[in-house]
Amino acid sequence: METQSKAPVAIVTGASRGIGAAIATELARQGFEVALLARDVAALGRLEEQLTRAGGRVWPLACDIADERAVGAAMERLEAKLGVPRVLVNNAGVGGPFHRVDEVSTAEWDQLFGVNVTGVRNLCHWALPRMKAQGYGRIVNIASIMGLFGGAQSSTYAATKHAVVGYSKSIAAEWGAYGITCNALCPGYIDTEMLAKADPAVRARLLERIPVKRFGTPEEVAGMVSFLVGPFSGYVNGSALVMDGGLSAHLASDLPAF
Ligand code: NAI
Repeated sequence: METQSKAPVAIVTGASRGIGAAIATELARQGFEVALLARDVAALGRLEEQLTRAGGRVWPLACDIADERAVGAAMERLEAKLGVPRVLVNNAGVGGPFHRVDEVSTAEWDQLFGVNVTGVRNLCHWALPRMKAQGYGRIVNIASIMGLFGGAQSSTYAATKHAVVGYSKSIAAEWGAYGITCNALCPGYIDTEMLAKADPAVRARLLERIPVKRFGTPEEVAGMVSFLVGPFSGYVNGSALVMDGGLSAHLASDLPAF
């Protein structure tokens, strides 16, 4: 029979690369047993090897978070192996499509909502009653500053991330009495593979608008997550925490003053 784990358990979705891998790495370093969820089995295997070598205890689980049945099956395996998680980080998400509103196809809309919104819902739906039963839970949903602002050619992504912020606040209101907090984290531009590949002219234009004159790092996002699941954040519930180098703090700096 499987034994229940004593170390606190965390689930990180989209852990195979980028921000999710940095979050999983930091939580493993802090002594969490981390369930690594993503679709890319090979990448999950590589991260498992790397974190295990560094002394971490991690469990790769290949699963499409948009598929409720697949999530249920993966969570059943996780619960049998490790017990109920104390921490859930809903990080997996997809970007795009970068079209005008009337050019976004129904398939693109459904795909983005399926992963970015229904995916978050599937994990929360599974975790909340279990966290309630243990009287403790920390949920962090990775939204974006596009969860608080709109942008041309970004309507679908912004709509999904606004949904994540609203969903997180509502969970905070409904489940706070059971020892569960739920917060949305709203990063600006983070230097992941995608941004590294962007045209240097595009990177330069973005940097012009960011007051601290650099992009954020996945490790900085991981640091914020670690604060939100750590001992000093019990009174932070239902927040949409912005970390964008000051980008969204100024609307009109590049317009003439009058
Ligand atoms: P990424 O594209 O490098 O990684 C996304 C991860 O999610 C991968 O592990 C991928 O396998 C996983 N994933 C995607 N669809 C999935 C599905 N259906 N089921 C299971 N896993 C799935 O993305 P990145 O840049 O690391 O972003 C992570 C999160 O942070 C996303 O929610 C993104 O919207 C958000 N974000 C990213 C920013 C950035 O500048 N990179 C800025 C603000 C928010």
